[in-house]
Amino acid sequence: MISFPKIAVAAGCLVLLASGTAHAQAEWLKGSPEEKLNTLAEIQPGLGTVMMEYSSRFTTMYYAAHGGNWKLADYNRQEMTEIQEVGETTRPARAKPLKAFEEKHLAAIGDAIKGQNIKQFDVAFKEAVKGCNECHADQKFGFIRYELPKAPLSPLSMKP
Ligand code: HEC
Repeated sequence: MISFPKIAVAAGCLVLLASGTAHAQAEWLKGSPEEKLNTLAEIQPGLGTVMMEYSSRFTTMYYAAHGGNWKLADYNRQEMTEIQEVGETTRPARAKPLKAFEEKHLAAIGDAIKGQNIKQFDVAFKEAVKGCNECHADQKFGFIRYELPKAPLSPLSMKP
């Protein structure tokens, strides 16, 4: 049997949840359902935002491989493929070169990670950096050039 205090707590939570949702919508999400959908669509991350995460995971992947934390390296490689899907969706014109980069460079890096081969990793990583910057140049963003930071930017441990 459900005791009274439990019912009271559950009901209280529901009221809070309902009022919280209603409050959030009244604040900024206005108009017809279609207008609301458009508002939400317009604020989805574009390629610039995606690239910030892309490059930060790329850097973490490098230092994790060099620290011997191969699982963290592979996790970041995997997450790069996930976040690039957001860019492929919101900026379909750039989907093809992004997919090509994944199939060529992220795949080669993936092989090196699987074999835990740091020499193979370094070769694939260097090629990938060229691939990043070539795409930037092709897309008329030649002034955006990736350079490996001198130290990892992530607060995570790079050790196994
Ligand atoms: C589609 C080809 C393409 C590939 C492949 C690509 N980029 Fe980009 N990148 C872009 C474009 C286009 C921009 C400009 C973003 C925009 O539209 O505002 C960009 C922007 C950036 C930025 C600047 C983000 C900012 O706003 O400060 C960084 C950092 C970046 N890329 C890193 C990388 C790294 C690292 C790689 C490889 C691991 C990579 N990119 C691969 C197309 C690409």
